[in-house]
Amino acid sequence: MNETTAKADTELEVIFTPEAIAVRLDELAREIADARLENLLVVAILKGSFVFAADLIRALHRVGLTPEVDFMTLSSYKKARIASGQVSILRDMDLDVRGRNALIVDDVLDSGRTLAFAKDLLVARGAASIRTCVLLDKQLPRAVNLEPDYYAFLCPNEFVVGYGMDVAHRYRELPFVGRVVRQ
Ligand code: IMP
Ligand code: MG
Repeated sequence: MNETTAKADTELEVIFTPEAIAVRLDELAREIADARLENLLVVAILKGSFVFAADLIRALHRVGLTPEVDFMTLSSYKKARIASGQVSILRDMDLDVRGRNALIVDDVLDSGRTLAFAKDLLVARGAASIRTCVLLDKQLPRAVNLEPDYYAFLCPNEFVVGYGMDVAHRYRELPFVGRVVRQ
C-alpha cells in the first residue's frame, strides 16, 4: 500500500498499517488470555471500536478464548473533532454484566471521559471485574484519572481516522489508521 492514499480532495497518511495492526492484535490477545478471565464479556463501545473489536474477538478466539460480546453506543464527540466533555448513552447493552469479568473495548483513549463513563456504569451494574482495552492511547494529560489495562499502540496527538474511526462519518472503511494530511 502507498504511504499516502488520495481520496477525492483529501489525502491521508498511514500511521498503522493493516499488517502492523494484525501482528499487534495477536500479541494483545495473548496478553488478555494470560489474565485468565473466566466468563469474559467483551463490551465494545460503538461506533468507533467496531472494526477493532471485530478483529480483537477473532484474535481472542485464536488463543482459545470464548468471550460473549455486547455493544454500547456512547457519544462524546459529535460531528466535528471537538469533544463536548459530556458522555451519554445512545444505545445501551443488552446483556447483564453482574458478576462477570468485563473487557471494555474502545478505539481511542484521549481525555479518558468515555472509558471512565463506561467503567463507572459497569461498576454500578455489579461487574465482578472490569478491564479496558483500546486500540490507540493518545497519552495526553487526561481529564480523568484513567490508564488502559491494554492498548495496541501509543498514538501521536493528532486526529486519526480509519479502521472504524471517522471524522464526520467518513473513513471508517479504511483498513489502516491514518491522519488527514489535507482536507
Ligand atoms: P475521550 O472520551 O476523550 O477519551 O475520547 C474517546 C473517544 O473520542 C473515542 O471513543 C473516540 O470515538 C473519539 N476520538 C478521540 N480521538 C479520536 C481521533 O483521533 N479520531 C477519531 N475518534 C477519536
Ligand atoms: Mg468512540
